[in-house]
Amino acid sequence: MTSTRNEKKYFTPPIDPDVALPSLGNERISAGRFSSSEFMAREWTHLWRKVWNLGPRIEELRQAGDFVTHTLGKESFIFIRGTDEKIRGFYNVCQHRGNQLVPDRHCGSEKFLQCPFHAWTYNLDGSVKGIPGAEGFPLLRDGIPKSEMGLEPIEVDFWGGFVWFRLDEGGESLADFLGELTQQLAPYRLQDMRLLEYKTFLWDSNWKVACDAFNESYHFRGLHPQMLKWADENARIELMGDHSRMINRYGTTSSPYTGTTEIYPELKEWMVYNGMDPEAYQGAPEDVWKTKADFVRSIQDTESITAPYANMTDDQLTDVYHYFIFPGFAMNVFPEGINGFRYRPHESDPQKMYYDLIMLVHYPAGEELACEHAFFEEKVQYDKIADTPMSYIVTDVLQQDADNVSINQRGLNSDGFRGLYLGEQELRLRHFHKCVDRYLATD
Ligand code: FES
Ligand SMILES: [Fe+2]
Repeated sequence: MTSTRNEKKYFTPPIDPDVALPSLGNERISAGRFSSSEFMAREWTHLWRKVWNLGPRIEELRQAGDFVTHTLGKESFIFIRGTDEKIRGFYNVCQHRGNQLVPDRHCGSEKFLQCPFHAWTYNLDGSVKGIPGAEGFPLLRDGIPKSEMGLEPIEVDFWGGFVWFRLDEGGESLADFLGELTQQLAPYRLQDMRLLEYKTFLWDSNWKVACDAFNESYHFRGLHPQMLKWADENARIELMGDHSRMINRYGTTSSPYTGTTEIYPELKEWMVYNGMDPEAYQGAPEDVWKTKADFVRSIQDTESITAPYANMTDDQLTDVYHYFIFPGFAMNVFPEGINGFRYRPHESDPQKMYYDLIMLVHYPAGEELACEHAFFEEKVQYDKIADTPMSYIVTDVLQQDADNVSINQRGLNSDGFRGLYLGEQELRLRHFHKCVDRYLATD
């Protein structure tokens, strides 16, 4: 797929802060949904099996035979590129005795897949290739009925450089499922970005605890107080079908720092992180973002610049467009790349989840992928595990979010908690839980 350097056909609309948000009610949301096994089981059959789910990056499957495994709840899948170049998805299970065909968390490149138990083999298109001692299976004496013996396929489609998959057939196409998101995000050219960081963490919380934690900026003041020195805590919010977005300005200040003259170290660091010289800055702290717009406009047409700045309005250069793609993927979108957060349910425990940090960037032309997917079951220090040196203003925030989810889960389990009491800045959470409830209420 080739992309033009700039796609001006679509543009990302701003959110008009004067448009009134819908009223979705004020009742408390009970916390049982974060710990109930019954709720988790119904989510699996009525939600996760029905929606389009975010799978691997297409760039992980570059050549025929390249494969990756990916888990969602109790299931493991294999995504593999065939000799016909097509990418397919299968349940990761051998049709002989149900052994997992490829152990979880594996990727590689093979001419065919061989089950480690009795060595049945499968072609890259999922059809059975060989059965050792086939003559010993009476049912196979007339030949192997290949259509019956192949791997169980799942539906796949592609958008934004990602493989998407769905378990239960029927329902809307991926394009309809994503709706206006595809046009809104087209200027960023996600399909041309490449993996910078890809890490999976086992977290001690329900997957929805993490969704909620990342879908509002009301928590800046409590959990990330340092962000008040370099970001606007108040988000503009918009609901988009089952999805939603919010926009926060970076390169500015929130109360109590607004109106002061001091450029705090964190704000200077934000400027350095964005290629600017803080010592040359003369203006007020809350206006720093304007300087980034001027800076970017001065360099955006340079040949070495791969970020699609020319597609962007000034506020897209500095404001964080945070998109939530229901039910389990959120991303902070910048012209230079995305910080993506995928939330996956655990295989059996409603109070555990897998959190995938997926950072993509527009690599400089000619540079190649050097990122490997890593897994962490223990608590980590982000600044110690990042493959690429990351600014402390980024790792501090990631760390604070990661450290809090289990604390939130513990409280949600308390008999003394009366249910979530949400404000207007948390409207996306209420919307999210209503969407989950709608899926779970279907027959
Ligand atoms: S279970 Fe796979 S070959 Fe027997
Ligand atoms: Fe946060």
